[in-house]
Amino acid sequence: MASDLPPLFSFLMFLPLLPFSVAQTYSNVSLNSFLSTLDDNSSWLSPSGEFAIGFHRLENQDLFLLAIWFDKIPQKTVVWYANGDNPAPRGSKIEFNGRLLLKDPQGNEIWKASSIGNDQASYAAMLDTGNFVIASRDSGYLWESFNNPTDTILPTQILEVGGMLSSRQKETNYSKGRFQLRMLPDGNLVLNPIALPTEFAYDAYYISNTLEADKMDSGYRVVFNESGYLYILRRNGNIFNLTSGNIVPIRDFYYRATLDFDGVFTQYSYPRTTNGNESWSIVWSIPDDICVNIGGGLGSGACGFNSFCVLSPEQRPTCQCPPDYSLLDPNNKFSGCKPNFMQGCDEDEPGSPEDLFEFQVLEGTNWPTSDYERLEPYTEEDCKKSCLHDCYCAVAVFGGRICWKKKLPLSNGKWSITDTGTMSLIKIRKANRPPVSNTKKKDQGTLSVLLGSSVFFNFLLLAAISLVIFFTYKRKMIRRDCKVTGASEINLCPFTYKELEEATDGFKEELGRGSFGIVYKGVMEMGSCNFVAVKKLDRVQESEKEFKTESRTRTAIRGTKGYVAAEWFRNMAITTKVDVYSFGVVLLEIICCRKSVALKTDGEERAILTDWAYDCYGEGKLDALVENDPDAMSDMGRVERLVKVAIWCIQEEPSLRPTMKKVTLMLEGIVEVPMPPCPCPFSYVSSIINVPE
Ligand SMILES: *[C@@H]1O[C@H](CO)[C@@H](O)[C@H](O)[C@H]1NC(C)=O
Ligand SMILES: *[C@@H]1O[C@H](CO)[C@@H](O)[C@H](O)[C@H]1NC(C)=O
Ligand SMILES: *[C@@H]1O[C@H](CO)[C@@H](O)[C@H](O)[C@H]1NC(C)=O
Ligand SMILES: *[C@@H]1O[C@H](CO)[C@@H](O)[C@H](O)[C@H]1NC(C)=O
Ligand SMILES: *[C@@H]1O[C@H](CO)[C@@H](O)[C@H](O)[C@H]1NC(C)=O
Ligand SMILES: *[C@@H]1O[C@H](CO)[C@@H](O)[C@H](O)[C@H]1NC(C)=O
Repeated sequence: MASDLPPLFSFLMFLPLLPFSVAQTYSNVSLNSFLSTLDDNSSWLSPSGEFAIGFHRLENQDLFLLAIWFDKIPQKTVVWYANGDNPAPRGSKIEFNGRLLLKDPQGNEIWKASSIGNDQASYAAMLDTGNFVIASRDSGYLWESFNNPTDTILPTQILEVGGMLSSRQKETNYSKGRFQLRMLPDGNLVLNPIALPTEFAYDAYYISNTLEADKMDSGYRVVFNESGYLYILRRNGNIFNLTSGNIVPIRDFYYRATLDFDGVFTQYSYPRTTNGNESWSIVWSIPDDICVNIGGGLGSGACGFNSFCVLSPEQRPTCQCPPDYSLLDPNNKFSGCKPNFMQGCDEDEPGSPEDLFEFQVLEGTNWPTSDYERLEPYTEEDCKKSCLHDCYCAVAVFGGRICWKKKLPLSNGKWSITDTGTMSLIKIRKANRPPVSNTKKKDQGTLSVLLGSSVFFNFLLLAAISLVIFFTYKRKMIRRDCKVTGASEINLCPFTYKELEEATDGFKEELGRGSFGIVYKGVMEMGSCNFVAVKKLDRVQESEKEFKTESRTRTAIRGTKGYVAAEWFRNMAITTKVDVYSFGVVLLEIICCRKSVALKTDGEERAILTDWAYDCYGEGKLDALVENDPDAMSDMGRVERLVKVAIWCIQEEPSLRPTMKKVTLMLEGIVEVPMPPCPCPFSYVSSIINVPE
């Protein structure tokens, strides 16, 4: 007779027999049972062996989740987990003693099944539906994993009003993620991003619209029925299908619906009979286009901040960075992007915005919630110019006659093939600083070798300082009609200690104190009226040793404001190059006959000498620096050389600054002075050095 039965019927008859073939491993979980991570693969199985509860080991880590998974699927797909935010170490235990407990090796509780009533539990069981239950003596369920879902629901599971699914962080990280699916009391099923860690709900990116004016028609539970269909049940008994169309029968396929880590709620299927080489297929998913649907107010959108979302053919969000931006976390495409360059709100930066920035065009891309200004009517050129001259502006979007200026962080970014006619102009920095020529680096290398001996070094230091003083007084002499005795005077002259002692009358008259010594007034026979200042390095042995063993060390700031290098203000090593910087500032003061910071000048651009000098140099208007100095005006060649040397000295990057030895050689005209690069700041902490009090 059996052979006359239709095939479907014989299959159904066979089905209940199936569990018994694997039933040996199944039994109810009796009181005081436990599982340990130490016994590999130990778990409690469902009667059919399709589901198991136990320890799930995290990929590439010795950490475990208390989890439920599809045990017959090679991937052991996890459908429920207890301690996603707090994985358990090896040696942990799962205990059933009436409650379900997860304990670490020391016996501390990591997690427990809460909401257990006062009734006495008599056993627990992993059911064939994927539901793990703790049952009382009369077999009423005291606790069910189905009532405490994580990111997945299974056929026969119901999500009541107030019920929620939470996404994970990543496919392999089960910490609480950025998205929620909620059945709201008003009758709507919604998907929304959340603010971590507080879980404040941002605007929904999917709404089922099952809220009716007549409350009787509104939705009140999400049902995943035993045939594998998902729908919202209304109070009047009608249904709102989530699963669209007909699906293959559940006897042939496993089903699950998961709020994926990328925010897409997806129903998946997996064939029950496999050749061991299958994967989960998508049956349907909501929303249709998360990139567009998530366009709400707060939060970063489908992707992280500053990135933009492109929908894949499987309706999955993929995230990309704008040109010259890169991922915050290179291993996580959803982490957001950061610009590879410095933004532009740095007043000290020389050069016009046109010199510093340019635009890259991205068609069809927009960040609709990052606007801070709208200019209309405007041309594309006006739009670009406006963004260029506005240091807040990171991106300008131009379309029609409207220019939107956008600021960082950019949010809700998306690319759409239909979004033609608008273009995003991404403001990026032009290739940064002028390259440093190789010959110069080589020179510095040789010189640092030359400077090995500390005696030689100190000697040079003294000589260099004397030279500066010499320059100072020489200019004054010219004004006072002192006679200059010849070009040889500007050559480097070594002095003995005795000579300097005599010149300062035994280091008698103190002019000031510097980082490593005291400066004394002196007179030196070098022509006529040659006053000099001599710095006596009182701590020279010590400080020299400090520099050698570690004019690298970190120490309290020493120096006069307006003359000290930026390293002092940053978490950077202090080297002898800080004094090269100060020397450069003083040299500029000498050349220009003015203070490094001048509040009362005829123009803001002149207030900071270092900046103004570079601007003048860059624009080929060096005469502006010495316009009241006819002698200098008559020898612009030398002015240029001196200014170039000074600009080398005030480079932001200490390694670019020449050594003092090199400085003296350049000042003397013995070596060529290469064209100096811009002494531009190289980080957000700009050169506050020149800001007056
Ligand atoms: C599990 O416990 C229930 C209630 O005591 C009982 O009805 C059922 O037969 C048990 N199943 C097994 C496999 O022990
Ligand atoms: C545990 O499971 C893994 C993967 O399923 C398998 O390779 C391993 O042999 C199992 N270990 C034991 C002791 O059964
Ligand atoms: C998962 O991600 C969170 C947030 O990024 C992180 O704090 C946590 O350490 C990660 N967990 C694991 C097990 O890697
Ligand atoms: C499950 O829901 C679908 C769609 O509403 C329906 O066609 C099917 O009959 C339901 N199955 C059962 C067993 O109720
Ligand atoms: C829901 O889907 C089922 C199965 O495809 C179909 O029979 C039923 O008519 C649908 N109901 C509604 C209200 O669309
Ligand atoms: C197994 O899967 C891989 C990758 O999905 C595929 O390339 C291969 O052909 C499959 N093998 C069989 C036997 O189906």
